[in-house]
Parts: sequence; structure tokens; C-alpha cells
Amino acid sequence: MFSPVNQTQHFTEPNLADYLGDSVMLDSFGNNLNVVVVGASGGLGRAFQDILLDIPSVNRVFSLSRKSEVFRSSKLENIYVDLESTETIEDAAERIQSRAGTVNLILLATGLLHDGPDFQPERSWTSLTAQSLERAFKINTIAPAVIATKFLPLLAKKKKSSFIALSARVGSIGDNRLGGWHSYRASKAALNMLIRTFSIELTRRNPEAVCACLHPGTVDTRLSKPFQRNIPQATLKGSIESAAQLIKVINNLTPNESGGFYAWDGTEIPY
Ligand SMILES: NC(=O)c1ccc[n+]([C@@H]2O[C@H](COP(=O)([O-])OP(=O)(O)OC[C@H]3O[C@@H](n4cnc5c(N)ncnc54)[C@H](OP(=O)(O)O)[C@@H]3O)[C@@H](O)[C@H]2O)c1
Repeated sequence: MFSPVNQTQHFTEPNLADYLGDSVMLDSFGNNLNVVVVGASGGLGRAFQDILLDIPSVNRVFSLSRKSEVFRSSKLENIYVDLESTETIEDAAERIQSRAGTVNLILLATGLLHDGPDFQPERSWTSLTAQSLERAFKINTIAPAVIATKFLPLLAKKKKSSFIALSARVGSIGDNRLGGWHSYRASKAALNMLIRTFSIELTRRNPEAVCACLHPGTVDTRLSKPFQRNIPQATLKGSIESAAQLIKVINNLTPNESGGFYAWDGTEIPY
């Protein structure tokens, strides 16, 4: 588990070009791909967006966030989404359906670990409150579930398509040996259960589709910043590095592996 700190170590992100080229692609999905990134204003969401824009088989990138972004590509369309408003999620799904018909890949890269003094990961059950649990579940579990119900029907059929949610290894019940971070862990464990449950129904409706949870590793983003002190430099990843590794995992996942929980290197994580 990360430890909280006031100061963070210096981290240098390698160039995007180092991770692109032939090794980062989505060839298992075919061509003319429509992809959706939810949380494109975040560290990993932005990295996904930027890599996807550079993949030749990607036709359109719908970037969903609370922020309006500077226009940087004719492939890119920004759409406003607030995770706490079902209406904005429904509007985004309707707009994408009217623009693209179907989508090939949906990447859910939103999440919350801390948000000011009133919402910090717990070290002990003595700091756990109903409010912290509610906040974590609202952003990390309920909003992704609402997004899944509105976006899973948009997945293309009769070819590979995927709905991928970023989860976290600390959401693994089987892997929990350190304790702490009760709200975040529980909200991610519940997310994992929902994704697993969606995957079973999705297989019946859309047999070529994949629905899975991924763990990105420990990545230098706003989310991890206050907890990086005890992370060795070699373990801490840049967001581009992690997103590129995850795209390789997503490209390699088959419908038989739908419903699983996988790390950035493709290894399966126990639920
Ligand atoms: N970084 C890591 O080490 C690490 C490790 C394990 C798992 N993960 C998981 O990876 C995912 C991405 O994390 P990250 O590191 O990229 O974090 P991040 O940089 O903090 O990005 C979080 C994203 O979630 C969005 N978000 C939060 N609340 C929202 C709301 N109410 N409405 C709309 N968007 C909202 C943020 O939007 P705003 O910009 O508008 O706030 C931002 O786009 C998360 O699911 C996280 O749990 C990260």
C-alpha cells in the first residue's frame, strides 16, 4: 500500500513515441474503430486518449470528462460527463450512438482515492464513515455501473469489441494482506463484481465482446501523487507507459477471457 507524504519524488515520463509504432495497436478489433475514453481529463485517461489518437486503425475518439479540452485532432470529440449526473451519462451515450452508431472499445478511466481533507484513504476502521463509503461507491462503483448500462448496448456485434474498466489491485479480496483504504478497496471490489456480472450477460447478448477489469500498476498521476514516497522509482510508471501496456493487454484479450481481472502485464489477478 502507498504511504501518504507531503513531498513527492521527481518523475520523468518517457516520450510517447517510445511506446508507439507497431507494438501498440488494436489489430484484433479490425479497422475504422470508434473508441470512447471516460475520464479523459485524468492521468491515465489522457494517456489513453493521446495514444489512441495516434493508432491508425482508430477512426474516432470520444473523450468524456467534466472539462472542455483544446481541439487537437479531427478524430477527437469531447463530450461533457459528470459521474454524479446520470443525465449527462445518458446524453453522452445518445450523442455517441447518433454520431457513430456502434463503438468498438470503451475505456473507463475514472476513479477517486482522495479529495481534500474530508475524503482520504482510511488507515483504520476508526476513520471509516458512512460519508466516505458513500463517496467512494458513488464515483468508483455506481457511476461505472450506470455507464456500463448505457454504453454496453453500443458495443459493435459480430466482431471483437470491449468494455474495459480500470480497477485496482487493492480491490482484490484475495490479495488483501495489508488492510486499510477501506472505502476505496470496497468500492473497487464491488466494481469488480459488477464487471464480472455484466460480462456474463454480455456474452449471451454479444458473444464476441470482452468486458474486463484492469489494474494499471502504480502510476504517476494526481490520484497516486500523495502516496508515492515508498514506491521505488523503478516501480512507479508514467501514465503513457502504463496506458500503452494496458492497450497491449486489451488487444490480446479474447472473449474467453471476458469477466477477468488483469494487471498491466496481462497476468490475472484473483478477485
Ligand atoms: N494511478 C494509480 O497508481 C492507479 C493505481 C491503481 C488503479 N488506478 C485506477 O486508474 C483509474 C484512473 O486513475 P488516474 O490515476 O488516472 O487518476 P486521476 O488522474 O485522478 O483521474 C481520475 C479521473 O476521474 C475523473 N473523475 C473523478 N470524479 C469525477 C466526477 N464526479 N465526474 C467526472 N469525472 C470524474 C477525473 O475527472 P476530473 O479531472 O474532472 O476530476 C479524472 O478524469 C482509476 O480508476 C484509479 O482507481 C490508478
